[in-house]
Amino acid sequence: MRFDLMAGTAAAPLAPITRAPVVLVFDSGLGGLTVLAEVRRARPDARVVYAADDAAFPYGGLAEPVVLSRVLTVMERLIALHAPDLVVIACNTMTTLVLPALRSRFSVPFVGTVPAIKPAAAATRSGLVSVLATPGTARRDYTRELIETYASGCAVTLVGATGLASLAEAELSGLPVSSGEVLAEIAPCFVEMPAGRTDVVVLGCTHYPLLLAHYEAIAPWPVTWIDPAPAVARRMVQLLGNPVHDDEPPGPVQATFTSGARLTPALRMALADRGIADLAVEAMPLILQ
Ligand code: DGL
Repeated sequence: MRFDLMAGTAAAPLAPITRAPVVLVFDSGLGGLTVLAEVRRARPDARVVYAADDAAFPYGGLAEPVVLSRVLTVMERLIALHAPDLVVIACNTMTTLVLPALRSRFSVPFVGTVPAIKPAAAATRSGLVSVLATPGTARRDYTRELIETYASGCAVTLVGATGLASLAEAELSGLPVSSGEVLAEIAPCFVEMPAGRTDVVVLGCTHYPLLLAHYEAIAPWPVTWIDPAPAVARRMVQLLGNPVHDDEPPGPVQATFTSGARLTPALRMALADRGIADLAVEAMPLILQ
């Protein structure tokens, strides 16, 4: 199954919106903050709502039918509450599975986030590329199809990291994260062959750029790390159009969590630093049958 990854249902821009558009940025947790930053930079005039389904975090270890029904349920509530003009799915684990179902269920346009395999294939010199993703994204047929389509000339190593998204959340919540823990998660990305070694690593989970300073400090050798967030924001602008005034600073963001259980004081400060001025909890426990 192939679907248009970052695009809205139609390639055409939306009918012009004369007021500030409402953009909903959705992730399982805090990873979508890396996309939020680019969204705010690209459309500083937008009224942005950040939604985290932290009651179900991490999505990367959940079975596909669970992710599918959970995302549809939570999205129904979010759309009813916030009436967005556009939704950014700031999560590879969701996008690579749920995007077609979201587009057929809801009429609002969706922009997704998928591993940046095409730019990685263009950037590599050695031909050895690694995709650092969640176990869910690493398993998806969609990810394999992306590799076949855009990186068939490369040797691609798919790494499904089991604990890296949680380490990123821990660090943002003020907990210590050791280099050893991070290195154990990223080490399989570094492949050495007689003909060369990995020179490009795709950050295939929106949480992972949050730990970029660690990777750069501990990587066995320097590589190019590719973060898809700027491309996601560009796609949003193609659909929404450019801001009428882009010289003003981005406005405050409203955030909503489905659990809020990990909202420590350190995390509240980190969120405030990212422009999140208004925090709400809209409790939606995950019920696994
Ligand atoms: N941030 C999400 C992604 O981009 C996934 C984290 C998780 O819930 O496992 O895939």
